[in-house]
Amino acid sequence: MQVPFYRHSLSPENAQLVAKVLETPFLTSGPIGKEVEAQLCEYFDVNHAKLVNSWTNGAVATLLAMDIGPGDEVIVPAMTFIATANVVELVGAKPVFIDCDPDTLLVTPDLIRAAITKKTKAVMPVHIYGQMCDVRAIKEILPKNQKILIIEDCAHTFEAKFKGERPGTYSDVAIFSFYATKNVACGEGGAIITNDANLYERLQQAILHGMSAGAADRFNTGQYKHWGMEHLGTKANLPDLLACLLPEQIKTVDKRLGIREEISQRYESALMNTKIRVPKVLNDRVHSRHLFPIYVGGKSRDKALVALGEANIGATVNYRSVHTMGFYSNKYGFSGNEFPSSLSWGNGTLSIPLFPGITTQEQEYVIDVLVNKIDKMIGENK
Ligand SMILES: Cc1ncc(COP(=O)(O)O)c(C=O)c1O
Repeated sequence: MQVPFYRHSLSPENAQLVAKVLETPFLTSGPIGKEVEAQLCEYFDVNHAKLVNSWTNGAVATLLAMDIGPGDEVIVPAMTFIATANVVELVGAKPVFIDCDPDTLLVTPDLIRAAITKKTKAVMPVHIYGQMCDVRAIKEILPKNQKILIIEDCAHTFEAKFKGERPGTYSDVAIFSFYATKNVACGEGGAIITNDANLYERLQQAILHGMSAGAADRFNTGQYKHWGMEHLGTKANLPDLLACLLPEQIKTVDKRLGIREEISQRYESALMNTKIRVPKVLNDRVHSRHLFPIYVGGKSRDKALVALGEANIGATVNYRSVHTMGFYSNKYGFSGNEFPSSLSWGNGTLSIPLFPGITTQEQEYVIDVLVNKIDKMIGENK
């Protein structure tokens, strides 16, 4: 049997949605994107939403809109995808890495507090794998005499909740990814949500080179209007050709979450009596079950990846600790031993298939290989 790491749920029928866009004058951002933005405002109960062409470009635009740049520091977890730190570098600011909780892999208020300096301009909690950080507690520990913005990295979550509340409730801004494998996906894409009207105003410009009016808006009175540019921006808007794939997925994301939860719980109970460890799921939050990472230990991880490959099971690594990447260790002189929880998890983890279309037979096969092959490979000394 062959089990891919991921199989998306879009079908050739979705081509009709793209065909409809081709009938309109604007192939780029236009009326469909605006409808999706309204849908996002309703789903997250926020005032403003902006579609972007990736989490990464949306985050660069956000940092530009916040005037974060050289001389500024942004606190980021070491246990995340490199993009979280890279965007800080891209605007010329310094990512200040912190460790994570060893059980949940989430950043905690205490870890953040210890990393704050006079140069700190923002903190980027990552809801890793789909479980939300306690953003409310993070907000409470931020100094009252210094403006530190909270940017939620929601690349792994759309439908998660913390004590009944969705992303965007306690932060200044939350940024999502609609990359091909995400729970809501359109190939490449993302969205930014905020309740801050001034920030939204700046964001609209920051995603379009800093221009004061987008292509559609420049013509909407029927008369050409000049635009200006007061601040530097990038190009991060999402075209309607991709935005059209989103409305139906947003409508049905909570239904698919039920399936993701069932699959995840089946893995969890099957692995309970093995040496394989999984991140702790906290019972005061709804986990969006984006990825299913397991910990097999640093000595076994690469062998386990080979064994899974030989068994035709798609597996990947989410993630090696960012501070061990050559760019960051060279630039900031990390020895590699910093951030022990992130380091240990990053050296010993791998992710197994988790997607709503996985069949029971496929999942049973993955479980069989994990329990009867991978677990046996794990030595005493993980
Ligand atoms: C935690 C995290 N942040 C940011 C990103 C970047 O998202 P995008 O590919 O939409 O730029 C990813 C991508 O997988 C991610 O996992």
